[in-house]
Amino acid sequence: MDAPMAETARYQNSRFMKAVRREPVDTTPIWIMRQAGRYLPEYMEVRNKVTFIELCKTPALAAEVTLTAQRVLGVDAAILFADLLPILEPMGLDLEYLKGEGPVIHNPIQDASQVDRLTDIADMDCLDFVFQAVKLIRADLPADIPLLGFAGCPFTLASYAIEGGSSKNYRRTKQMMYNDPSAWNALMNRFVDNLIVYLQRQIAAGCQAVQIFDSWAGCLSPEDYQQYVQPYTAKLVAGVQDHAPVINFLTGNPALLSLQRQAGGQVFGVDWRINLSDAWEIFGSDVAIQGNMDPIALYAELPVLKQKAKAVLDAAAGRNGHIFNLGHGVMPDMNPDHVKALVEMVHELGTR
Ligand code: CP3
Repeated sequence: MDAPMAETARYQNSRFMKAVRREPVDTTPIWIMRQAGRYLPEYMEVRNKVTFIELCKTPALAAEVTLTAQRVLGVDAAILFADLLPILEPMGLDLEYLKGEGPVIHNPIQDASQVDRLTDIADMDCLDFVFQAVKLIRADLPADIPLLGFAGCPFTLASYAIEGGSSKNYRRTKQMMYNDPSAWNALMNRFVDNLIVYLQRQIAAGCQAVQIFDSWAGCLSPEDYQQYVQPYTAKLVAGVQDHAPVINFLTGNPALLSLQRQAGGQVFGVDWRINLSDAWEIFGSDVAIQGNMDPIALYAELPVLKQKAKAVLDAAAGRNGHIFNLGHGVMPDMNPDHVKALVEMVHELGTR
């Protein structure tokens, strides 16, 4: 066994990793997408001193916000503090996070003729701040808490590269997909090839599992997902899963679940638009499922929140391989006490 594999093997007895392997657990493990974010006063204290991108690129600070969120929430996994988009910079795109507006790409790939502007990452060490953060986090995290790495899926990254920011109807992205399949193929393969190396490096640095976010793929019809996206996500999963388990997360479109399943992964992240028992029918019993409470339930009073958490656990019905999460990320104005209460509720109600 080489060094990274031996390192990874030390964290396999955690509740979270048992659930990934669909082994029995004492209670349902939970973590929360965007758990280290602006709703947490501890995050804001660090964030107020630096810009968001500086925070991402300073391993000691990124490590601090990851570790603090895990500790104050009592969640069963930590997630690397980073972002989906900094990988675009060494691929030739000019990324900026504008105050109040979110990420902007100043030189998006405007049409098929410009696809060649998206280059391979010549040296993955230019993202060393990510791998250094992983090392620092892993060194300080309790042994029963796995560290999750992550990256964007090729479609979600392509949508930012082409639209230049967030988008309502993904017109340019779909135009390229439909009108120039060979340019689309080149673009998606370029993302996949670089993402495989990027995720392998995160795992080698100390992550026990990785989540791939296809946050915007829900805008696609099943036919389009199958034709233009699934082959590339499948190639990404295939290139990573021998190194660590992959959580394949997609949101916004339950009609894509069976195709998401075919793209592969060990755990499937689903949102609240489907009941978990129905999701398990579609996915089959040989996978773990992560989800799927509506994040907006965190705005409800605690007794209602508890009913909502119980409904998710009831739908999972104590199956091995359930990891509790929201169906999407926590919002900046959510009450941290409700998030903490949710973690306690899930641990209490999920007890076997
Ligand atoms: O989950 C975590 O706690 C880990 C860190 C994490 C962040 N972004 C930190 C972040 C993760 C996993 C992401 C993923 C991400 N980034 C996604 C997928 C998210 C999903 O839920 O599907 C996307 C689409 C991005 C791109 C991105 N980054 C956007 C659209 C924004 C702006 C959002 C906003 O409301 O401002 C960001 C910025 C960002 N990424 C913040 C955080 C904590 C807020 C930045 C700040 O502190 O000002």
